[in-house]
Amino acid sequence: MRITLHVWRQRNGADSGRMVQYQMEGVSEHMSFLEMLDVLNEQLAEKGEEPIAFDHDCREGICGSCGFMINGVAHGPLPGVTVCQLHMRSFKDGDTLYLEPWRARAFPVVKDLAVNRSALDRIIASGGFISVATGSAPDGNAIPIPKVNADKAMDAAACIACGACVAACPNAAAALFTGAKIAHLNLLPQGQPEKNRRSVSMVAQMNAEHFGNCTNIGECEAVCPKLIPLEVIARMNRDYLKAAFKND
Ligand code: SF4
Ligand code: FES
Repeated sequence: MRITLHVWRQRNGADSGRMVQYQMEGVSEHMSFLEMLDVLNEQLAEKGEEPIAFDHDCREGICGSCGFMINGVAHGPLPGVTVCQLHMRSFKDGDTLYLEPWRARAFPVVKDLAVNRSALDRIIASGGFISVATGSAPDGNAIPIPKVNADKAMDAAACIACGACVAACPNAAAALFTGAKIAHLNLLPQGQPEKNRRSVSMVAQMNAEHFGNCTNIGECEAVCPKLIPLEVIARMNRDYLKAAFKND
């Protein structure tokens, strides 16, 4: 296949950045999208040019490292798929693709397609955990959990913190991510002792990181590679309001 790429090149956060065109010939439909970029980077290195920077690690859709915009869509055209699991058979000969980094004030560009997503880490650090004494693993069935809660908690726990929801949102809101992380723990018995503190502090940290406000547009849900539902945002808002304005 012949693919024309327009890739955002930006040396660092201080550089204003620009689109650069690259012509790819003989692209195999069996290549993953990142493998196609690996080939391009080898060609650039052979010419003595700077390779394109992009984040990646597992390349199995589980770590959340990868992600950029392909023709304006976070993680590209396939629903429920990270860019590392996207293959060139999803495109056709002669396609022109525009690759850009996540664009959000809370995600400053590090270089080219790589952005700094440590704001998401700080939201987790503010309350996305349970405080328990460490020791040997408890018996799996020691704490009964209603099936519906276990299923919803596991669905929320699927969030890989990729940041696509923020990039797709016209407000650059992190509500789907934060809602998923709060729901994951607040739905389980182990998460109850710190539920109120967690809900308040994670929402406060989300606001402090300069993410925008959620206005229920739903672009986040549409691009989420783990199909996290909007329901987690409603749950976060309810848990936050109950915790922030409780009278006891
Ligand atoms: S909610 Fe979805 S899009 Fe947002 S960080 Fe988690 S996995 Fe990525
Ligand atoms: S590289 Fe790990 S999810 Fe894509």
